Amino acid sequence: MPDRAVPVLEVKGLKTVFRTRGGEIHAVNDVSFHLDKGELLGVVGESGSGKSVTMMSLIGLLPSPPADVRGGTVMLNGRDLLKISPEELRSVRGAKVGFVFQDPMTSLNPVFTLGNQIMEPLIKHMKMSKKQAEARAIELLELVGIPDAKNRLSAYPHQFSGGMRQRVMIAIALACDPDVLIADEPTTALDVTIQAQILELVKELRQKLGMAIIWITHDLGVIAGIADRVMVMYGGQVVEQAPVRELFSNPQHPYTRALLKTIPAISGPREARLKVIEGQPPIMTAAPTACPFRARCEHRFETCDRVNPPRRAIDGLALGQGHDVACHWAAPAPAVQSEVAHA
Ligand SMILES: Nc1ncnc2c1ncn2[C@@H]1O[C@H](COP(=O)(O)OP(=O)(O)OP(=O)(O)O)[C@@H](O)[C@H]1O
Ligand code: SF4
Ligand SMILES: [Mg+2]
Repeated sequence: MPDRAVPVLEVKGLKTVFRTRGGEIHAVNDVSFHLDKGELLGVVGESGSGKSVTMMSLIGLLPSPPADVRGGTVMLNGRDLLKISPEELRSVRGAKVGFVFQDPMTSLNPVFTLGNQIMEPLIKHMKMSKKQAEARAIELLELVGIPDAKNRLSAYPHQFSGGMRQRVMIAIALACDPDVLIADEPTTALDVTIQAQILELVKELRQKLGMAIIWITHDLGVIAGIADRVMVMYGGQVVEQAPVRELFSNPQHPYTRALLKTIPAISGPREARLKVIEGQPPIMTAAPTACPFRARCEHRFETCDRVNPPRRAIDGLALGQGHDVACHWAAPAPAVQSEVAHA
C-alpha cells in the first residue's frame, strides 16, 4: 500500500495562461494536488479540461511564449521546480520525472535507433559508459516485455508496432529510475487488447519499482482498474478529488456524476452504453469568476453564476487528503443545500 505520509510531489495554486493573438486562455486555474510515494493518481476530464497543460507546466515542457506559468509552487521531494534553473529542470525531466505521451510515434525520434534513444538519458543523466548504458537498455526492454531485447536495440521506431513503441516509451521514461512517472493518455492510440496489456504492464512495474504515477485519461473505466485516488478536472480546475472507491460510490460533483454515466455498461444494449454529456466544455478566456460547469449543469442556481465554488472537504479530513468537491450544490446534505440556495 502507498505510504500516505510521504508526498513525493506537492503542487499548490498552479496557474498557467496562454497568450494568444485572440487574447488569453486561462488553461490551468489554481490547481493544487499531491502525489504520495508509491501512489497512482488518476486524472480525468474531457478534452480541453487542462490535464496535459497542468502536467507539462510542472516540468517546464510548455514553450514560453505562448505559455506563461503565472503562479504556484511545485515541490518535488522538497524542491520547487518553478524556481530552479532551466538546466536543473532539464535534468529533473530526464532523471526524476518520466513522461509518457499519448502518441509514441510523435515522441520517438524516427531517425535514431531505439537503443540510442533509451541509452541517451542513461549516458547523460546517470553518467553511464556506453557499455553500461547498453546493458541497462537491454534490461529495460526486458522489463517492459520486449522479447529478444538485445537484437532490438538496433531497430528504428517504424519497425515496431504501436504497442511495442509505447512499451519503448515507458522504458525510456523509466530509464533513470524516476520518482514520478507521468503517463498522459498513454493507451489512447492503441487498440483495446494492447491497451489492456499496457495497463497490466504498468500495474506490474508499479509493484516491482514502487514508483508514484500520474495517469491521465478520458476513461473512468481505466481509472477504476488502476488508480488509488482520482482527480477530476474541468475548465482548468480540480472539481473533485477522492480515493477511487469513494469517487465511484459517492460522486458529488454534477460533472463527475455525468462522467460516470459515460462509462460503457458492458451488459447493456449497445445504444445505451455511452451517454454523452450534453454541451461543450468552456474555453477559459478569463480567470473563472463563476462555476465553469454552470452552462451544462442541471443543478445550477443563482450563486453558481456569481461565485466560483472553492474546493471543500466533505469528510472532515484536510483538503486533498480525503474527498473534496468544488460545487455549491454538492454535499452538505440536501436540507442544508436548500438553505444555501436561498441564502
Ligand atoms: N499552445 C496553446 N495555445 C493556446 N491554448 C492552448 C495551447 N495548448 C493548450 N491550450 C488550451 O489549454 C486548455 C487545456 O488544454 P489541455 O491540452 O491541457 O487539455 P486536456 O485536458 O489535456 O485535453 P485532451 O484530453 O484533449 O488532451 C484548452 O482550452 C486548450 O485549448
Ligand atoms: S456550482 Fe452550481 S453550476 Fe457548478 S456544478 Fe455545482 S451546482 Fe452546478
Ligand atoms: Mg491532453
